[in-house]
Amino acid sequence: MEPPKEFLSSFKPAADLFKIHSDQGAVIRILTHNDADGVASGGILSNVCKRVGTPFKTTVEKRLDEQILKGVAEEKPSLVVLTDFGSGYLELVGKALPDLDVIVLDHHMPMGNQPTRVVQVNPLLHGIDGSRDIAASGVCYLFAKQLDPRNVDLSPLALVGALGDQQDKGEKKSLKGINILIEEEATAAGLLSKDVDLIFYGHETRPIARAIANTTTPFIPGLSGREDSCVAFLDHVGIPLKTGDRMQSLSDLDEEEKRKLFSALSSHMVAEGCDAKTVHNLIGTVYTFKKEEATTPMRDGREYSSLLNACARMRRPSLGIGICLGDRGEAMKDSEQTVDEYRRKIGGYLDWVRTGDRIKELNAIYVLSAGTDIDENIVGVVSSILLGQGILKSTKPIVSAANSDDGTVKISSRIAEGTAYMGIHLGKIMQEAAGAVKGAGGGHDNAAGAFIPPGAEDEFMRRVDELVAKQWSGS
Ligand code: C5P
Repeated sequence: MEPPKEFLSSFKPAADLFKIHSDQGAVIRILTHNDADGVASGGILSNVCKRVGTPFKTTVEKRLDEQILKGVAEEKPSLVVLTDFGSGYLELVGKALPDLDVIVLDHHMPMGNQPTRVVQVNPLLHGIDGSRDIAASGVCYLFAKQLDPRNVDLSPLALVGALGDQQDKGEKKSLKGINILIEEEATAAGLLSKDVDLIFYGHETRPIARAIANTTTPFIPGLSGREDSCVAFLDHVGIPLKTGDRMQSLSDLDEEEKRKLFSALSSHMVAEGCDAKTVHNLIGTVYTFKKEEATTPMRDGREYSSLLNACARMRRPSLGIGICLGDRGEAMKDSEQTVDEYRRKIGGYLDWVRTGDRIKELNAIYVLSAGTDIDENIVGVVSSILLGQGILKSTKPIVSAANSDDGTVKISSRIAEGTAYMGIHLGKIMQEAAGAVKGAGGGHDNAAGAFIPPGAEDEFMRRVDELVAKQWSGS
């Protein structure tokens, strides 16, 4: 597959600018977003800097604001690279960093005028769907390849970011669009193999109960994060944990056993309040990174992305960057512990939501007001699960709020795929409603967010409800 030429040539000015600075061995300051795509993007760029031998500093931020950019300006780097955010905050960047060269590698909706010292690469400027066809990590990967074709070995990280942003919207939960081109490059380089199966993490390598318990996408209420419950569940279904002396993995099961397991999981999910259709999320394209050790979480594309997501959301992003840079020792061990805590947290939050009748239904949206009961960094993940698992019964978007540790309120919004195609653009709605209450927001059509001042939540939700209803009726 060939990507649009115009998009590919848009990398050249950014690559040229990067080379000018890296050839001088000048300090490159990378800022990226705190999710799997952001960490994979920051990881790709950190590898690039390391390989060309230029000093760099990478940080992972929950958002871009004046204060963060002011701190960056005070560090006086030679070049700033913003990835997985930036396009929505171009004027802010221009104002805060007027004397610095800046490269923005993003896939969020561009907003405002591009300041003179900012070079931006964004698929949306070339008619490419940045929510589904390429993630920020894909943009960073193509940038890395433009600098040096040998950076093809970073292609798995590009796929990890796309999986983290749930871009597996193709047939059988496969990646699509420009992501396919990246897949082809990874396959040709001997780094990737794909097959269609139950998508539990480590389907070839882990004992079945652990594979089910470790999986967070999809998140199965009552089983994800709870290995002992998975053991009891398998026992009840009649799937033996062992074959001879060896623990069985999913790939050891024959077709009949797999069917039995699928059907039992379906019944379990429906009994837990999930929509019957969402059980099909259990089967899909499995991405295996062939050069990674078979027993590690980096072997499976979705598990790798969950690991990076967990590190970022649990405020330990440097572990994730370390792993992207190749650390398979301490960082990997610590990150596995972090993922355990992350899974337990999500399970607890879902119990909190489901047992407490916490979701309010307005005219056009669902509202979840979590206050301090859900971590601001995880409220978006919880919203995705509530929507993706069919726990919410209508097609309305969900808009969640949680208190942020900086005194503002963090907003996360998600919309089901079918509904996003009906002309609703959450990123634009977040921008407008947040702007009206002196906050800031943006994002994709199907997943977006904002930060708003405390006390503005009711007014903000009222505006979002109105805007969604308006876009809906216009579609
Ligand atoms: O934080 P959350 O996961 O809910 O964010 C959803 C999407 O919205 C992310 O891609 C994020 O980058 C984007 N976003 C944004 N501006 C904000 C908050 C979130 O563009 N102020």
